[in-house]
Amino acid sequence: MSIHISAAPGDIAPFVLLPGDPLRARHVAEAYFEEPTCVNQTRGMVGFTGVYGGKPVSIQGTGMGVPSIAIYATELVREYGVRTLIRVGTCGAFQPDMAIGDVILAQAACTDSNVNQLRFGGRDFAPCADFGLLQGAWNAASERGLSVRVGPVLCSDSFYQDVEDPWGIWQRHGVLAIEMESTALYTIAAAHGVRALSILTVSDQLVSGERATPEQRQTQFMSMVEVALSLL
Ligand code: HPA
Repeated sequence: MSIHISAAPGDIAPFVLLPGDPLRARHVAEAYFEEPTCVNQTRGMVGFTGVYGGKPVSIQGTGMGVPSIAIYATELVREYGVRTLIRVGTCGAFQPDMAIGDVILAQAACTDSNVNQLRFGGRDFAPCADFGLLQGAWNAASERGLSVRVGPVLCSDSFYQDVEDPWGIWQRHGVLAIEMESTALYTIAAAHGVRALSILTVSDQLVSGERATPEQRQTQFMSMVEVALSLL
């Protein structure tokens, strides 16, 4: 049991999927896991453990943003011995040639957050994905015929921006999309010598203003989860 996770020691598998939305954690566990058991209910941020393809697997909601995922990732690794953390989330596409439903494998995570400036005493750390997971996810997504891109994302502390052209500088440097968690995930994984990858589905096309319908969100989310589970 940790401060934010009430699971007993041994109740969480070494391989954990991390959606932001706890309701998605429940949905995935019920749809894909054999014998899904709810192992955490603290703050309604539910987590489940079950079996997939004969192997133990867990899924834990993280909430939105760097501070929230940092709490769950840290406790999962330190208190429960988790070795592989796969974020499955949504993102807003920065580039005009990307469509709703495209899968992005976040090779690296730029950020406007100050957390790593604090951690590294004002110096820059380059948070990046585990290469083996990245390669495996690329192969799995390609085999499924998904439209998949690999590249850097921006992990932002702000969903709503009040300044003019907040994303232009990132777009001009080839950053594929915006989300709000991967810098923390990759940094915490690096700090503990464990593997991490963010698999993201485009839910918002920020150049055209298009947004995914609820139906698109559901089916596309499950495609990404299947890619993630193939890494188990
Ligand atoms: N901004 C930040 N995070 C996101 C977005 C967005 O537009 N869409 C999905 N995650």
